[in-house]
Amino acid sequence: MKPKTWGNYWDYFGTRLVEHLQIPEGSRVLDLGTGGGSTLFPAAEATGEAGSVLGIELWDSMVQSVNNEIARCGVSNAAVQRMDVREMEFDNEFFDVVIAGFIGFDNYFDFDRCEPIKENTFIQQMVRVLRPGGKAGFSTWTLQEDTDYIYGLLSRAWPDMEKPFSKENERGWRTIMASFGLEDVRIIHDSIAFPFPTLKDWWDEVSDYGWKERIKTVAESTGSTSEAVTQQIFDNLGDHLKQDGSVVFRRDALYAIGAKPS
Ligand SMILES: C[S@@+](CC[C@H](N)C(=O)[O-])C[C@H]1O[C@@H](n2cnc3c(N)ncnc32)[C@H](O)[C@@H]1O
Repeated sequence: MKPKTWGNYWDYFGTRLVEHLQIPEGSRVLDLGTGGGSTLFPAAEATGEAGSVLGIELWDSMVQSVNNEIARCGVSNAAVQRMDVREMEFDNEFFDVVIAGFIGFDNYFDFDRCEPIKENTFIQQMVRVLRPGGKAGFSTWTLQEDTDYIYGLLSRAWPDMEKPFSKENERGWRTIMASFGLEDVRIIHDSIAFPFPTLKDWWDEVSDYGWKERIKTVAESTGSTSEAVTQQIFDNLGDHLKQDGSVVFRRDALYAIGAKPS
């Protein structure tokens, strides 16, 4: 039985991150910020019955829904706990592999200036619980074309709007990996033109990422309505809207894989 996750591109990138980690069977895996489980389920498959995956997640609803999927699909080697990664109380060096898919570290690190903003307690904890010789794997967005598209349109009316996502880059990641002493670092770039079957499918997926609030702000400041501003977004899709009604945007991600020195 196939577990229900967030699906979409989440599953594509989650599966790739796990593949790049080459998790040995029998590994004890920690999946940080499990979300919908797009890294947890492939990791459970990779480590097999002899191993285990523990997911850590802040959102109660996600903890519950992924645990439900684990039970429904009879996955015997995975579980999710509600916990803040920054306050984990596991023993030092307890896990063989640690994964952090799309957490977003631009509040800890300025990727333009390539310098830390504040202490990165998330990665600190992550490395603490990783055993010597164990692997750490991260993924992050380097481009979400639809984010750029909507931002471009809305920022004509709201030039000061802060740009969400797509801020992280290879140079910053190499610096972060080195600063935590991770070695054998591999940075892998990936890209897909991801098709959503319908306009509604696309909007259902992306509109929750803060766009509804930003659209409301633009509508209020221009004397328009949220519906009219949203319609403008739909009307200007150009080549992204295909003849069969599907909507296609490119998404680029970067995987950063490293090992804790033995
Ligand atoms: C964008 S989702 C990514 C989900 C999944 N890792 C994937 O790659 O598909 C990030 C998740 O990390 C969780 N998260 C962020 N900070 C966290 C923290 N300090 N402790 C636990 N979970 C956290 C969020 O609640 C969210 O579900």
